[in-house]
Formats: sequence, structure tokens, C-alpha cells
Amino acid sequence: MADYIYTMEIRLTPDQLKGVGLVQDVARAAGLNLYLTGGAIRDIISGFTIRDLDFTVQGNPLKLQKELEKAGAKITAVEEDMRTIFISLPGNARAEISMARTERFEKTGKPPLVTPATIHEDLRRRDFTINAMALSLNEGSRGLLLDPFNGVADLETKVIRILHNYSFLEDPSRLIRATRFAARFHWPLEERTQARYDSAKEGKYIDHILRSSIGHEIAALAHEDDPLHVVKMLEKEGWLEVLHDHWTLAKVDTNGITQLMKTRQQMVDMGYSPDAGPAVMYFLTSHFSEKDISDIQKSIPRKDLVEAWRDIEDHAKELAKRLMGKEAATPSRTWQLLSSARAEMVLFLAVTAKQQAVEQKIKNYLTKWRQVQQKIPLPEMTELLITPQLPEYPKIANDVFMLLLDGKLRSRTETLKFLKPFAPPPPPPPPAPRRGRAAKAAAEAAPVAVPAKPGPKAGKKGKAAAAAVPAPSSAPPPPKAAKVAEKSKPAKPEAKSAKPAAKPAKKAAAKAAAKHAPAEKKKR
Ligand code: CTP
Repeated sequence: MADYIYTMEIRLTPDQLKGVGLVQDVARAAGLNLYLTGGAIRDIISGFTIRDLDFTVQGNPLKLQKELEKAGAKITAVEEDMRTIFISLPGNARAEISMARTERFEKTGKPPLVTPATIHEDLRRRDFTINAMALSLNEGSRGLLLDPFNGVADLETKVIRILHNYSFLEDPSRLIRATRFAARFHWPLEERTQARYDSAKEGKYIDHILRSSIGHEIAALAHEDDPLHVVKMLEKEGWLEVLHDHWTLAKVDTNGITQLMKTRQQMVDMGYSPDAGPAVMYFLTSHFSEKDISDIQKSIPRKDLVEAWRDIEDHAKELAKRLMGKEAATPSRTWQLLSSARAEMVLFLAVTAKQQAVEQKIKNYLTKWRQVQQKIPLPEMTELLITPQLPEYPKIANDVFMLLLDGKLRSRTETLKFLKPFAPPPPPPPPAPRRGRAAKAAAEAAPVAVPAKPGPKAGKKGKAAAAAVPAPSSAPPPPKAAKVAEKSKPAKPEAKSAKPAAKPAKKAAAKAAAKHAPAEKKKR
């Protein structure tokens, strides 16, 4: 049997995994049964990007708000009628927590009647089989996958299948969702689903879509990996104008969005995780009027997305200004400024910068300057015992990197010269084995003396841990090298203090006096 907890643990990002733990603890403390559901399960099993975490609780999640906030989550939106809260978990992981519910559609185009339910009932109200699974996060059944519609099989066959014949009639937004998922995964609709889709389209069910569903579907575009392709498919199917009646591909900055997604991937490959959502919305609506943009923004339930989208241009301008100023006068200072900026701002500015100098600086930051890290002489640093075990290692490594960036260390020899003063003293030799009287006597009595085994040589270059390349940090400008050197000046080798017992007091006093004499002279 598949171990879904293990799959979840290796598939989620560290921040998402921490987020699962956080929500799990809060739900457990409140005595609510918790499940990971919907798209999160689909993506964990199928290997697709997990964009957000969908949780379902048996009970009312609205009453978890305070505890979630105390645990470090931010509530970004609340839908009272559906008893759903949208949260942002530490590290930018997005999640929503819904109440397990049944939905009864009494009138087409009217919101359903919602009643609290069990998780099994909840799975029956969902859109597609691949979205109708739940993973238990509860003590006793943790790791149990509920899959009443054989979603795993449809994931394997790669098809999108509705749960029942009335799915599109009950919730016409599922027509848009079907197109979106088909475009995202490049999977077909299952045959019967396709037939229902076609007749729903012909019957203009979409005219009954709820306004709240439109907002959800617009927001979902922000987090697509290939939003341009999805938007093209939505336009082809006639759904883009459902999201906003002026929306066509002509309103989209196609070059901008292509460039954005390319740069985003580049940053992801470097280990950054910029939330491209606000920038995606910016480019998808580039040629809209302000009024239309404001209307679209009003329909989106996640206010954090809307706010970030609204502010994106101003924040980018601010960063560009700083990049043109003294604060970024040298490569090292530019590096520090960009390292401390939000990854999403670096991403957006990389694509929209108007000043060539700004564009070049970001380009260097993302490409050329990273290669300078290769010039840090890690093997030699290990030989010098400058390894991550040293408390001052991050600072030393960062200083070398900054000096290399600024061209102040131009050769390996210069770099090693800079590094040498930071080398710690070699470890002291192990104390000579003490010999007890009995052992001494035995040794004397022995006909042949066995030479004592030499201990490990002092300063022997052991296998020091592989020195890590300094993480690009936002540390403040480095103090002068001499200062750092002073701080990490090697302590007097212990070997000296291990020398034979004190010299006669007189001799020592004379030596001390001699040592101080010149200093005293100088003072005068
Ligand atoms: N859902 C549904 N019908 C809808 C909207 C949502 O049944 N009209 C259910 C689906 O089970 C879906 C879950 O609610 O998986 C969460 O909704 P949402 O976050 O919109 O969908 P995801 O599947 O997570 O899609 P995405 O990958 O785009 O986040």
C-alpha cells in the first residue's frame, strides 16, 4: 500500500510541510478532524507543483482563526457562508481551510444550501474525481487516503472526469475549471465528461456562474505555471470573457508574461521561491483600463493577492531608485541590496526595469556574479581549517565573496593572503600517555623497549567538512579586514603552555621587565 504521508513529506516544500504541522496542531488542539484534500492531494500523488494546501475540517474552521494567528499564520480572507478561511503560512505557503459540507443546489445560478457534513459526504460534492480525495491527518488514521471515486486511477490514466451528470449544471464554474485543468495538465476530458461539457456549453449554463466563483477562477490564473497557455485555452473556449467581458488575449502583455515565467523558473532553479502571482496578474491585465482592473480586483477574495498586485509597480520603482543610488554603488553593495529585497520584487523588476543600469545589475545578480562564488578557494580554506565549524566562517566567506565581487582580490594568491590570518591554530597534540609507577617498572624490566606509537601530528590536516559556498547574504557591509583579522587572531598555541614547568621566578621576572621596557619608553 502506498505510504501517502511519506509521499506528502517528500513532495511538499519545507515551508508547506511546516504549515501542515501548524494546521494539524491547531485542529488537534481544538478537537477537529483534519484532512488534506482537493488539489493538494492530486498534486502530491501526481507529481505536479503543489501551489497551495487545501484542508478540510469536520467542524467550523472559523473558530480556529485566533489559534492559527497565534501559531504564525495570517488570515488573508474569510468566506463566512462557506465557512472557509484563506491563510498565508510562514514562508509564503498559501492554504485554505474549509468546513466539510454538503451543497444542495435548489436553483440554478443561486448559491447552494450548505450544511456541515462528514468528510465522506464532502468528497461527494466536489468537481472532478482527481480532486475528490482526502488524506487523514488525524491520530489513529493518519495517512489513510479516502478515494471514493477512484481518483488515483484517473490520475494514472490522466483524465478529467466529473463525479455525476449534474456537475456542470450545479456549478457552471466547473466548465472553466475543466478547461483550466485540461490546459494545465495537457489531459483530455473523459468521454462522458466531454459530452456533458459540450451540452452545458451549448445550453449556456455559464450564464448562471456565481460572482464569487468568477473571483476564485481569476485568482487561480495567478498561480498557473503557464498562465499564457491557460488564458489562450480559456479564450478559445469562450471563458475568458466570462471572467471579464473585456478580457481577450489583446489585453495581455504576452512578451512580459513569457519573460516573467522564464525568469521565475531561473530563480526557482537557483533556490528562490518568488510568488509570481501579483506579477502574473499585472501582465494578464496590462492593457485594461484602470476601472476594469479595479473591478477585477474587487471580485478576488484573496485580498493579499490584490494588495500585492496593486503595490507592485510602486515597490519596483522604489527598488529601482535604490539600485541607481549610492546604496548600490559597487557590485558587493548591489548584491547585498538585492539579497535583502523580496524575491518577487527582484523578479518583477528583472522584467520591467526601464533603466538599463538597473536591468544590468539584476542580470549580473542572477547570473555573472553567482559565478564569482566559484573563485572562493574552498579546498585551500579547508586546508587552512577555515571551515563551517568556525563560528566566524559565514562572515569570512561572505567577506571573501564581497571582495572578489568588487575585484579587490584579483588572484588566488591575493585571496589566500587575505584568508591566512583567519586560519585557526592547529589543534594541540594529544597529551603524552601518563605512565604509572608499575608500568614504568615493567618497562624498565623489559629487555627491549617498545617505542610509543606516535600520536596524530599536531596540525594534521584532517578531513575538514566540505566548506559551503557562502549563502548570498544580506549582511551589512563588511568591517575592514584588519578588524576581522584581529577578532579571529589565533590564540597562542596551547603547546606553548604545555612546556615544562615554570622557569625560575627571577628569570621570568627579568624577561617580563625586558618585554615591557620598550613599551614604557614609547609611552614617554
Ligand atoms: N472545488 C469544487 N468545485 C469548485 C471549486 C472547488 O469541487 N467549483 C473543490 C475541488 O475538490 C478542489 C477544491 O475544492 O480541488 C479546492 O478548490 P481550488 O483550490 O479552487 O482547486 P484546486 O483543485 O486546489 O486547484 P488549483 O490547483 O488551481 O489550486
